[in-house]
Amino acid sequence: MAENLAVVRVAVAEGTPKVLGYHSLSAHSLLADDLPTDLMPKGRPFPGIGAFYLGFPGVDQSMHGKGIGRMLLRDAMGQNLRAGEYGGIAFLVLDAIDDAAVPFYRQFGFVALPSQPLRMVLPTSVIRQAVGDGGEGRSGGRRPSSADHRPAPKRS
Ligand SMILES: CC(C)(COP(=O)(O)OP(=O)(O)OC[C@H]1O[C@@H](n2cnc3c(N)ncnc32)[C@H](O)[C@@H]1OP(=O)(O)O)[C@@H](O)C(=O)NCCC(=O)NCCS
Repeated sequence: MAENLAVVRVAVAEGTPKVLGYHSLSAHSLLADDLPTDLMPKGRPFPGIGAFYLGFPGVDQSMHGKGIGRMLLRDAMGQNLRAGEYGGIAFLVLDAIDDAAVPFYRQFGFVALPSQPLRMVLPTSVIRQAVGDGGEGRSGGRRPSSADHRPAPKRS
């Protein structure tokens, strides 16, 4: 899309055009009152809280369990952190497709909004901390095993 509504990044197999998975990121905002109490900002200078929305349709079924989902999540978290250096991006937010997908995101530190259990947020401060710690979320975790797959940007 010419409007630059989202940036899609794909994971491809090295040396082939095969798309193994992808995610998209777009600007978003959250209402402070929707956040879990412990994540509500202390001051409320703006009506909306800056966020990146992560559209994460997933990974090619034949490639599940090979670390590509983890790598894509880590890539989105890195993009979120870098964007936060240019403007106020306080959260990475996504909508889990169903209850079964929730644990996947929880392991990276995402927490559900009280009023919308499938809508999950990860504070940028937690991402920054994880990067500083050499990890990737509240629970840490190992590095992706698929070093031969890498995300590449595609504007849309
Ligand atoms: C969920 C999904 C994106 C995970 O991608 P993947 O490449 O298979 O995941 P990874 O191999 O990177 O797994 C990373 C870790 O998450 C775990 N995991 C994977 N799917 C999980 C799930 N649904 N719930 C909990 N943990 C999960 C893996 O066991 C692995 O843990 P480990 O490192 O301790 O072994 C992928 O299975 C998928 O596309 N599923 C169908 C569509 C979907 O549910 N998409 C999410 C839309 S919101």
